Amino acid sequence: MKNIKLKDYSIYLYDQWSNFRELTKDYDNIIVLMDVKSKIYCYDEFRIKTGIGEHQTIVIPDKEGKCVSELDKKGSSKKLNNCLEQFKNLETCSFIYERLMDLGADRHSLLINLGGGVVCDMGGFCAATFMRGFDFIQFPTTLLAQVDGSVGGKLGVNFKGIKNLIGLFKNPVGIFIYDRFLISLPDRELRSGFAEIVKHALILNYNLWQQIEKMEELKIEEMMPLIEKSIVIKKQIVQTDPLETGKRKILNFGHTLGHALETTYINRGLTIAHGEAVAAGMVMESFLSKEYYGHSDEWMEIIVHTLRKFFAKFEIDDDIEREMLDNIKLDKKNKRRQPSFALMIEIGNVEYDINLPDDKIVDSINYYRENY
Ligand SMILES: NC(=O)c1ccc[n+]([C@@H]2O[C@H](COP(=O)([O-])OP(=O)(O)OC[C@H]3O[C@@H](n4cnc5c(N)ncnc54)[C@H](O)[C@@H]3O)[C@@H](O)[C@H]2O)c1
Ligand SMILES: [Zn+2]
Repeated sequence: MKNIKLKDYSIYLYDQWSNFRELTKDYDNIIVLMDVKSKIYCYDEFRIKTGIGEHQTIVIPDKEGKCVSELDKKGSSKKLNNCLEQFKNLETCSFIYERLMDLGADRHSLLINLGGGVVCDMGGFCAATFMRGFDFIQFPTTLLAQVDGSVGGKLGVNFKGIKNLIGLFKNPVGIFIYDRFLISLPDRELRSGFAEIVKHALILNYNLWQQIEKMEELKIEEMMPLIEKSIVIKKQIVQTDPLETGKRKILNFGHTLGHALETTYINRGLTIAHGEAVAAGMVMESFLSKEYYGHSDEWMEIIVHTLRKFFAKFEIDDDIEREMLDNIKLDKKNKRRQPSFALMIEIGNVEYDINLPDDKIVDSINYYRENY
């Protein structure tokens, strides 16, 4: 039994269902928000485990049946199922607001977001804005949402093709982490979430990194201690900088180049999971760290050797490289169009707001192409 306490709420790990019942007992209208797959894979178990009483549900529609047609046999899929991202928009919020009205939601209601990062970000956003805001619980069902998405109070939706352009910061009343939901996640989704755990280790926790170095494969039954450590790291960072004005930028390690690769792939209709792109970004930004701080080739090889065990290599041809460089300039975290990096002084210690010239960035992409 563990819970991680933050200033105004807790993150509950390891089957803390009595805490769930305590936290939810005074709400007279409880609404559970899901997407089609989290309903299929997680809702029954959620009901049984939590023993939740009377409640209503909203399921994010999958109008073209796209996400459902990608359904594979439980646990056996190697396919990526990230099509839900295209429903993370104001139109879907409109649908959710309407359903909230139909279901009689008011400021004393509770929304439980049962799903991946899309459900948690968008459900949280709707709860935080409907009638100027009512309480919500995050119940993340993907590894990415458990270790990253649900912690830190960032809520929002995409707008005009720009990720998370509309949103706000607001904390839930609680977060529940249940590792058995991960069983039905496709392997690539699991690895994608694992990339954020690796990132948390590289930026702030050398001990966690050493643990990861020793791992040969990902096993769900061994994931919980890693999830816990990862959440503690993210908690430490977001607590010192809740509104991302300073230190929180270290969380962007691997993300400047990672996002550029992700956007380029997605624009070309190629599939890449967020964490897969971040893993590639971490290779490139470790190289930038090596160059910037003068680390040795051995230092670099230690990192790359571990990343190779878990993350596939993605093709970057000259066109992709060019588009990545263009995309980096458009990153919404830039100031005056200058790309900014978080770089490793050493493993477990990162500095942020470092600007680098284009030729250095090109070198890091070339390093990835030739050495990863
Ligand atoms: N708020 C933050 O700080 C933060 C941080 C990181 C990422 N995010 C956001 O999170 C989103 C990505 O999260 P994600 O990867 O969880 O995406 P997602 O919510 O799209 O989930 C991925 C897919 O997995 C399915 N799914 C969910 N739970 C499942 C389960 N247990 N078994 C099988 N399938 C399941 C979903 O239906 C979906 O198709 C992005 O929109 C990103 O912007 C937010
Ligand atoms: Zn990320």
